[in-house]
Amino acid sequence: MKKINILIIDDEPVICKGGRQILSEKNYQVETCPTGQTGLEAIRKEPFDLVLLDMKLPDMDGMDILKSVHPTNPGIYFIVMTGYSTVPNAVEAMKSGAFDYLAKPFTEDELLLVVTKALEKKTLVEENLSLRKELLHRFSFENIIGEDPKILRIFEQIEKVAPTDSTVFLFGESGTGKELFAGAIHAHSLRAGRQFIAVDCSTLSPGLLESELFGHVKGAFTGAVREQEGIFEMAHSGTLFLDDVTNLDLEIQGKLLRVLETGEYKPVGAGYFKKTDARIIAATNRDIRTMVEEGKFREDLFYRLNVFPVVIPPLRERKADIPKLAYHFLKRFCRKTGKRIEGFSDDALETLSNYAWPGNVRQLKNVVERLVIMAEDTTLDLLYLLDHLQLKLPGKDNPIPESLQELKTAKNHLLTQVFDPLEKAFLLKALRNTKGNITQAAGKVGMQRSNFCLLLKKHHLSSDHLNKKLGEENLEKNET
Ligand SMILES: Nc1ncnc2c1ncn2[C@@H]1O[C@H](COP(=O)(O)OP(=O)(O)OP(=O)(O)O)[C@@H](O)[C@H]1O
Ligand SMILES: [Mg+2]
Repeated sequence: MKKINILIIDDEPVICKGGRQILSEKNYQVETCPTGQTGLEAIRKEPFDLVLLDMKLPDMDGMDILKSVHPTNPGIYFIVMTGYSTVPNAVEAMKSGAFDYLAKPFTEDELLLVVTKALEKKTLVEENLSLRKELLHRFSFENIIGEDPKILRIFEQIEKVAPTDSTVFLFGESGTGKELFAGAIHAHSLRAGRQFIAVDCSTLSPGLLESELFGHVKGAFTGAVREQEGIFEMAHSGTLFLDDVTNLDLEIQGKLLRVLETGEYKPVGAGYFKKTDARIIAATNRDIRTMVEEGKFREDLFYRLNVFPVVIPPLRERKADIPKLAYHFLKRFCRKTGKRIEGFSDDALETLSNYAWPGNVRQLKNVVERLVIMAEDTTLDLLYLLDHLQLKLPGKDNPIPESLQELKTAKNHLLTQVFDPLEKAFLLKALRNTKGNITQAAGKVGMQRSNFCLLLKKHHLSSDHLNKKLGEENLEKNET
């Protein structure tokens, strides 16, 4: 572990010598300087964690050092030492950024106490900063894949709304990235250094939900043996993401509305109100307007939440992003598993792009993870995809056509999306089973050779292409 570096700037040898001795014993690295000038030079050369600074130096005022160094070096903590223990002196130093002060003469314990306090604070601040950086990275736009104009527009909306404290309502099917976007709003907001708490309202049981959200006092119900803070308290001055908000029952909806309107809530069993300043982001994958019409969701709450609606389109409506997402997850899972996979074959990528993805990005992510785990080759091709994926074929989800034109369109759509890849995979499999012998393959599947060849042509599978493909496969199999 890196040693803590402490600098003592003082013209009194006894302070320098004594300080060095006491602090070195605690395993700190200590340097001493008898003048302001040598102190400044030392700081310029080396990054100190802590500076013990005498206010009255022979060549300059300690205050000047503090004022010149502190603004550009927030990582250096200053403790000023003053012989004239006048309060105004210390107060001025603290106003200029000193962390604490020591009145001379001080004891060993007093010295160690302020030094420990300063270093603890410094560690805490730095940990917070690094957590914040990690959060910012995870929710940064570079980690949210999407170049489709619809997604780019959401990025724009998020950048605009993030720094305000407005409530945001995210709409989108399951797995479209609602939580990811909620996190991005938080990370781009002024609250980024505070907590981001995501609550899935559908996973909490109705009986416990109220106390989970608002906390409870001791004895509020059987089992409430002590007071417990709720999610609203934890999210105070941070962001609270309420996923699946339509799952809240009407009673809790009323309580939520009250928090949104007044910033106040009552812990279960309490006779008083508590205040919260949490910023709310809500989300749902259900048709909330119908729920409002049916009286299942409070209309007033809906309008209160719907200040800034953001609609995330399903993956099938932004097909161009599918290859990018697939590669993004491929890279991630290769890193995780240590596998080396170069990519997807064109036909595999085409099939992925044309699939309807009812589970949206989450489903694609899971599929790629599974493919990577099972992969033995360096390329993931269509055959492999169809061998390892039970992608549910679209069928019952398709709306019933209402005109001949619509029927024809639907038929073409099904043929190109579902049947074509299947047909191609069928040919490849047949050929793989006969090591590329077309006559045998045709015979085995019960087709005329000429018809089999016609199909190969339809799918642009020339014999060169095939030999190459199957040759590679055989070669790789032999090598392993
Ligand atoms: N555009 C994207 N880029 C990268 N990863 C994404 C993207 N969209 C979603 N994901 C990933 O997909 C998974 C599902 O996203 P998320 O949990 O945000 O969806 P959701 O809309 O909240 O789903 P649910 O409605 O089921 O709660 C997460 O692992 C998320 O990181
Ligand atoms: Mg979610």
